[in-house]
Amino acid sequence: MSIHAKPLSSSFGVEIIGLDPRNLDAEGKEAVKLLFDNHHFLLFRNAGVDEDQHLNIVKAIGPISGGDALMKDGKQFTYISNVHTDGRLPNGELFYHSDHMFLAKPLKGISLYSIEAPRQGGETRFFNAAAAYQGLPASLKERIKDLSARHVYDYSVNRGDKRPDAEHLSDNADTYIHPLVWHHPESGTPLLFLSRLFTTDIIGLDKKESDELLDQLLDYVDSRGDDYVHKWEAGDLIIWDNLHLQHARNDFPAGERRALRRVPIALAA
Ligand SMILES: [Fe+2]
Repeated sequence: MSIHAKPLSSSFGVEIIGLDPRNLDAEGKEAVKLLFDNHHFLLFRNAGVDEDQHLNIVKAIGPISGGDALMKDGKQFTYISNVHTDGRLPNGELFYHSDHMFLAKPLKGISLYSIEAPRQGGETRFFNAAAAYQGLPASLKERIKDLSARHVYDYSVNRGDKRPDAEHLSDNADTYIHPLVWHHPESGTPLLFLSRLFTTDIIGLDKKESDELLDQLLDYVDSRGDDYVHKWEAGDLIIWDNLHLQHARNDFPAGERRALRRVPIALAA
């Protein structure tokens, strides 16, 4: 059977049909890498990948990112889960973001494999940060072209639906400043790089100006309406470019079980 890539949205994302993610040879890995580079988001339904098979397909895209405190005993994955005792982010809404945008080198990509899916809610939403940049009105493109923004993760607050308070950060907050128009470190594609979850302020502007410009840009992102919303089914395997796309999570009812195996992908050194 030949490989078929079925589009999921107008500007990114495909469902891959005809390629078994459990059994990838060198040619299959090359195909996965090419599809990822072209579409930035891959979905395999009924993937049935065990831990080793999951890691194997992710390595077609890039090296596994280490250094996660929950990756104990040589594990190269974690759980986003309210089922596993060591699960992270067990419940609640998560605003749009790219993982680790508050570090010098955010993740290149993320893969999630659905072990248990909620019957209602808990969808993961995605938007195309490259298309968002291209679609900006010319005046806004000009306004932000030389500006940078600060991104923060405050480990003491740890809320997915609240922007960090830049004036009251705890001692263990990570912060990093990136250009508002950041070029993807591997592809060079310009990206609109700010998020409601992590971005606190724009460097060189006073608080009022910074808040107004951030609100204008974030409202623009929310108004675009070209998101892809993934309704999870058990067995779904997705891999996406964490920089080209941003992701968010819808809330889901207490009592629903939701468990995903997460493998993080690092940027090339
Ligand atoms: Fe995330």
